[in-house]
Amino acid sequence: MTYNFKVKILEGDSSLHRFSIRVFGCQMNSYDGDRLRTALLHEGWLEASEEEADVVLLVTCSIREKAEQKVASEIGRYEAMRRAKGRPAVALVGCMAQRIGVEMAKRFSCVRLVSGPRHLGLVPRAVTEIGTAGTPRFFMDDDPRALTDLEVVPTARTNPFKAYVTITYGCDRFCSYCIVPYVRGRLQSRSAKEILKETQALIDCGAREITLLGQNVDAYGKDLEGGVRFASLLADVAAQPGLERLRFVTSHPKDFDEDILDVMRGNPVICRAINLPVQAGSDRILREMNRGYSSGEYLELVRKIRAALPDVSLTTDLIVGFPGETDEDFRASYKLLEEVAFDIVHTAAYSPREGTRAAMMDCQIENSVKAARLNEINALQARIARAVNEAYIGRELEILADGYAPRGEGKIQGRTMSDKVVIIPGSQEDFGKVIPVRIVRASHWSLEGERRSSL
Ligand code: SAH
Ligand code: SF4
Ligand code: F3S
Repeated sequence: MTYNFKVKILEGDSSLHRFSIRVFGCQMNSYDGDRLRTALLHEGWLEASEEEADVVLLVTCSIREKAEQKVASEIGRYEAMRRAKGRPAVALVGCMAQRIGVEMAKRFSCVRLVSGPRHLGLVPRAVTEIGTAGTPRFFMDDDPRALTDLEVVPTARTNPFKAYVTITYGCDRFCSYCIVPYVRGRLQSRSAKEILKETQALIDCGAREITLLGQNVDAYGKDLEGGVRFASLLADVAAQPGLERLRFVTSHPKDFDEDILDVMRGNPVICRAINLPVQAGSDRILREMNRGYSSGEYLELVRKIRAALPDVSLTTDLIVGFPGETDEDFRASYKLLEEVAFDIVHTAAYSPREGTRAAMMDCQIENSVKAARLNEINALQARIARAVNEAYIGRELEILADGYAPRGEGKIQGRTMSDKVVIIPGSQEDFGKVIPVRIVRASHWSLEGERRSSL
């Protein structure tokens, strides 16, 4: 990947100026990773492989125990590398850094910098000082409302055609299983003016597709004076010249206002794709989760969305094995998936997170039961997704090509307006272009297409 940057080598400490960056977790972390990369390049640092790097930045996630274990074992590997050849130092940032970064720095001497997600603004300068600082630096988000953000437009992105923009920080919903409010702090909306400035800058430097991010995007503006709401922000970004596609994620069923549908309907730039996490099908479990809606209310919202946008693709998140989940509760989730027939379901086995209400509940479910339920629900969704995707065969659509397909020589992939992955023959020259295709084959996770000459 090449970036349009003049790279200047830091004067003075020339022994330490290469970084490598690894991103775990959700799209918010991708956005943070892209901004950190951009900021470090501005500081005169070079991006390198981890073998050559003086500092490895880990942008981390705490959503499930496994996510943290993986990073801890990677830090163990860097510790051994550092012992053998004196580098890399590790800068641990993001949600896991906020939760257990202090502990990690005690355990591993290679961890020289720890920063919570709300203090990223302090990270680039501190990274450039890692070589000189005596003791590790800590920037923890002790106050869940404090914010020292990194004010950098992420121009050096993993994918030059796609850009993320966080519009709300934190989350106030406190679902009983979820660690996010504890590691990302309170809900805070960015000013619309700032967001629009950033999205325009991204479009001007090559982003064709922008995704607006929030743990609950629909809550945008509810904490601001002046009446800006998510629907009006969406309309304003969609109107910016040069933007090909606009997406947003994640929608919370409790906050999803119908005026969002009006804006979507009137605006062909906004993609026909909504991620609307349901989490469970049983009303009792939904109550225990503190989700704020019943399965009936959820289904009613789905009906309204589909009535307003018949070509919409709907995806969801679902947890199996929440404390006290009976077979009957699990069947309710199973039934809901059959009834809605989502395009994609992001399933997860419940993972207890220390300090959350659900982790303290009695009747935690055995791992073997969680695994069996996960298998069963994944098998069901694979069948549903295959049927949903097969209905696309023969359809003529447009995709925005954005990278190589994971498998297959001479194959590239792109996404439709409804966020379907389509694989077609192609090359790097197609990246960033809108290509008319006809769908010829379908599997449960992707579609295959052939090119059409024009629409
Ligand atoms: N804000 C979004 C999602 C945030 S986290 C929402 O409200 O839905 C992304 C997903 O991780 C969640 O949708 C949930 O399905 C899953 N998740 C969160 N905490 C979890 C836990 N403790 N165990 C298993 N999955 C979890
Ligand atoms: Fe977590 Fe719930 Fe907030 Fe989503 S809405 S981030 S699941 S607390
Ligand atoms: Fe993970 Fe934090 Fe995102 S916990 S899912 S990286 S908000």
